[in-house]
Amino acid sequence: MKEKWWHDLIGYQIYPKSFQDTNSDGIGDIPGVIQRLDYLSDLGISMIWICPIYCSPMMDNGYDISDYTRIDSVFGTNGDLKKLIEEAKKRGITIIMDLVINHTSSAHPWFQEACKNPEGEYGKYYILRKGKNGQPPNNWRSLFGGSAWEKIEGSEYYYLHLFTVGQPDLNWENEKLRQALYKMINDWLEMGIGGFRIDAIAHIKKDLTCGNLPSDGPDGLCSGMRYFRNVKGIEDYLKELKERTFEKYDCFTLAEVDDIPEERLEAYIGENGYYSTIFDFCHCFHNCLDGAWKGRDKEMLLDVRNRVFERQKKMEGRGFFCNYQENHDMIRIPDRFLPKEKQNFYSLSMLPVMYFFLPGIPMLYQGQEIGMTGFWREHIEDYVDLATHNNYQGYLEQGMTKEQALEKINYTSRENARTPMQWNDGPNAGFSDGMPWFAVNPDYQKVNVEKEQQDNGSLLKFYQKLIALRKHCVYQKNWVYGSFTALEEDSDQLWCYMRCRDGQRLQVFVNMSDEWVTTKGCYDGKVLINNYAALSQKAGCLLLQPYQAVVLAVES
Ligand code: NOJ
Repeated sequence: MKEKWWHDLIGYQIYPKSFQDTNSDGIGDIPGVIQRLDYLSDLGISMIWICPIYCSPMMDNGYDISDYTRIDSVFGTNGDLKKLIEEAKKRGITIIMDLVINHTSSAHPWFQEACKNPEGEYGKYYILRKGKNGQPPNNWRSLFGGSAWEKIEGSEYYYLHLFTVGQPDLNWENEKLRQALYKMINDWLEMGIGGFRIDAIAHIKKDLTCGNLPSDGPDGLCSGMRYFRNVKGIEDYLKELKERTFEKYDCFTLAEVDDIPEERLEAYIGENGYYSTIFDFCHCFHNCLDGAWKGRDKEMLLDVRNRVFERQKKMEGRGFFCNYQENHDMIRIPDRFLPKEKQNFYSLSMLPVMYFFLPGIPMLYQGQEIGMTGFWREHIEDYVDLATHNNYQGYLEQGMTKEQALEKINYTSRENARTPMQWNDGPNAGFSDGMPWFAVNPDYQKVNVEKEQQDNGSLLKFYQKLIALRKHCVYQKNWVYGSFTALEEDSDQLWCYMRCRDGQRLQVFVNMSDEWVTTKGCYDGKVLINNYAALSQKAGCLLLQPYQAVVLAVES
């Protein structure tokens, strides 16, 4: 594999609204990110993915863009972004922006024009269709609930919105629209950003030939997923997009794409793929508090391991995944992977070891490094997110009581990952001097950056060690380019793997359970990481304590 500048990046995702407020409006901003760059630099990360900061009515917290060229004043100015890029660069950190080009906001001037004249020039920028007998063009369900079509007032036309009603889908069939998007992308790259995280890109091609589909829910609607995700022919757009923009700047691109058939992986993330890397979603539907895995945390982690390993084996030699455990769209890992009573330093620190040394780009999400969790709300009104409210309504329609629906929301709402960053034990956890837009987790006096910085045995310090080990000059090439071999696969309690390169073996052992476990195989080597003070061995086998995580190195 030809080496590229981005292969050894270690990413950190910032949800700017909840990161650091500097102007007391209760909303995080770009100067806040600049203020915290030294913290991020000490942590050791080398790339920041910043969620959308463009002008937006914030119906979907910035994923509904009304002006692609300007930073929303709530976050700062274009000048602030420039400063952030420069300051980050001084610290060896590259900034990647969120690129939302499947849809705009309904407040975007293009859409406003389209509504005024659906048959005019801008009507062709969106996906507009006439209704049928007073009904929407088909019964697709939006990914956020309800019909995927909304009527344009005073016309016979409906517009397609795969996400909220405030996010009309763009019509990629229209060459003019594509050109406008490419120009915008190139302008940002000219400014000096390192690349993009690309939102919902798997949906840009739609197959609109189908009519109504058999309903699959009490709402009479149907998930039209196979007609609007990775639809055949999408490759033409992806190729053009890459050639007209990303390739010219040799930038890093991280795409939100799932479910690509194995035979197409090469085209997506191979040497000359459409993108640098894609997220691996295979653990996203695991939650030991809810659904099929409820109360089955051990089996659940085993299932996650098997899926991750299977994907890694398929990917070997083909390209890189972006490996992550948390993001702004799902609840945090302590809550998803561990019952409350099992959450402690050992269990929380073994979780990142599972994925951090796999082939690929490791990504952290703000607050993951200090063990932030969600917290229980007594009222649905305490949530802001529209998708969360739509889900709540959906649960009521399915027949749940208000209490049951709220409980489900508490266990699953993505907004639980969006609480303000906990910097210290002062007012509003040091996030803001004003009234935070969203309540701070009441546990902030126990869980916060300042406290963990002062404690050598903290989770934060452990993450720092993990990152330092990934970047260590003796091991880095192996972490990035070494082969992957699963170890101890017969065990239903262990998550172990080996990375090999040029006679160097790096072995990762994680005990996913709350019991002592002995490895079947014999292992030795220098201890590079251990979340316990000691490592026990018996006749060459490792005796791992509950949730123990260890990395060993052997040079031959
Ligand atoms: C995926 C983003 O991660 C999510 O937060 C957003 O709501 C949708 N795409 C729509 O843009």
